[in-house]
Amino acid sequence: MPRVRIEIRNLSKTFREGGREVPAVSEVALDILDKEFVALVGPSGCGKSTILNMIGGLVAPSGGQVLIDGAPVVDVPRQVGYVFQKDTVFPWRTVARNIGLGLEYRGVTGPEHERRVGEAIRLAGLVGFEDAFPATLSGGMRQRVALMRTLIVEPEILLMDEPFGALDTHTKLNLHAELLALWEGKHQTVVFVTHDLSEAITLADRIVVLTRRPGRIKMIHEVKLPRPRDVIKLRESDEYAREYSQIWHVLGEEFIPEGG
Ligand SMILES: Nc1ncnc2c1ncn2[C@@H]1O[C@H](COP(=O)(O)OP(=O)(O)OP(=O)(O)O)[C@@H](O)[C@H]1O
Ligand SMILES: [Mg+2]
Repeated sequence: MPRVRIEIRNLSKTFREGGREVPAVSEVALDILDKEFVALVGPSGCGKSTILNMIGGLVAPSGGQVLIDGAPVVDVPRQVGYVFQKDTVFPWRTVARNIGLGLEYRGVTGPEHERRVGEAIRLAGLVGFEDAFPATLSGGMRQRVALMRTLIVEPEILLMDEPFGALDTHTKLNLHAELLALWEGKHQTVVFVTHDLSEAITLADRIVVLTRRPGRIKMIHEVKLPRPRDVIKLRESDEYAREYSQIWHVLGEEFIPEGG
């Protein structure tokens, strides 16, 4: 049996602001295994980012607990790399200096720094853009920079919050292929937040469907598609259509507006 890497125990979060209470997450319980790729899907505002932030030690739970490798998460765990929902590259840094940032924080300098940044730039298909500033890049290129900045420190656990949410379908598919290729190499444990069901099926081993706010687990679906996956051909397969229809109905119920 593969070991449990992330243990989510009855996790709840209620935000309190000036006398107002917003219950965001309710009693979420889930074990995520080593090397597993798990997608969290659910409607906007259902608490996906909040769950990820609690796993990553950025938000304190109101109830329950997260354990990583058996240890309760209190601060940002050293095993964890985070790719945020918002475009988080620094506009005043070049591509190479954005990607190298994580290494700088860890005190990796000199030839080792150069080598690893060069390798990351090659993997991201950004050769020739080392000295470019983010403003001159496309959205897809900026997301590659953000992804590489996280991967360069080789985190064993990767938390990704709608990293491709703002991109067009074709750019997204390219990045799915690239992410899967990178993941086949390293097999990080991944928690990937999205509201795009196609994306979840393409990437994940398991899909956790959340209810609308406060987010609770509605269904856990195992994606049976074999790997390695061809992100283009996959979409034309009957198996993909079957997976899609199995989840779509359940997820669709959560998109009906309240009182609707
Ligand atoms: N720091 C905060 N203070 C107060 N309320 C918050 C805070 N962060 C999130 N919330 C509230 O918690 C709920 C869940 O927010 P969250 O960002 O986790 O949703 P989400 O599922 O990631 O949505 P989206 O798909 O739009 O990114 C929302 O109602 C939001 O307003
Ligand atoms: Mg979010």
